[in-house]
Amino acid sequence: RLRVAVLASGRGSNLQALIAARDAGRLPVDFVLVGSDKASAGALQLARDAGIPTFTLDPKAYASRREFDFELLHRLDASGAQLLVLAGFMRIIDGEALRPWVGRIINIHPSLLPKYRGLHTHRRALEAGDAEHGASVHYVTAELDGGPVIAQARLAIQPGDDEHSLAERLLGHEHQLLPAVLQLIADGRLALSPPDGVALDGLPRQQPLQ
Ligand code: GAR
Repeated sequence: RLRVAVLASGRGSNLQALIAARDAGRLPVDFVLVGSDKASAGALQLARDAGIPTFTLDPKAYASRREFDFELLHRLDASGAQLLVLAGFMRIIDGEALRPWVGRIINIHPSLLPKYRGLHTHRRALEAGDAEHGASVHYVTAELDGGPVIAQARLAIQPGDDEHSLAERLLGHEHQLLPAVLQLIADGRLALSPPDGVALDGLPRQQPLQ
């Protein structure tokens, strides 16, 4: 079974969807560790309730972003994780620290990338008058929300939508999308190295997992 670690900063509903998929027998993975930059993150409690080891690193305890990120990824490496999933992790990870993980780290982002990298994606889609919105799962690279997209979920923006309703409705789609991508990886139908022909900021290709 694929060993998976998850990073999350918030309530953890995407993590919950992953755990539920595993419990339903749809996801042949082991969640080996859940980490957060926020001790109060709901995701940590969800993980504890599911018997998954957790840790928190407080960014304020580190002299620089870089030191924090190296420690963070060191912890994940030590857990034996083969795949790292960012499920609502709200920090940018230093490119150097990320290097050994490129091709084995994915993120879920609430927009139809390449539209709306960064924050406030729902508001920006509404303000732009877009007819549709969505979420993307993509490989994480040093470029913020800029790595190759693996899969997307789309929904139509309704006339009465506001930021809140749109975010809520999209979340339901995220909860399908992220487990579906993980299932592809766990089944060996999606390589854990970046797709051929995709430049990943000049970083070397990772060896595919056995
Ligand atoms: C999700 O909507 C996820 O797409 C988004 O944060 C939310 C986390 O919800 N991620 C980002 O914005 C990453 N930049 P959750 O904690 O309930 O899973």
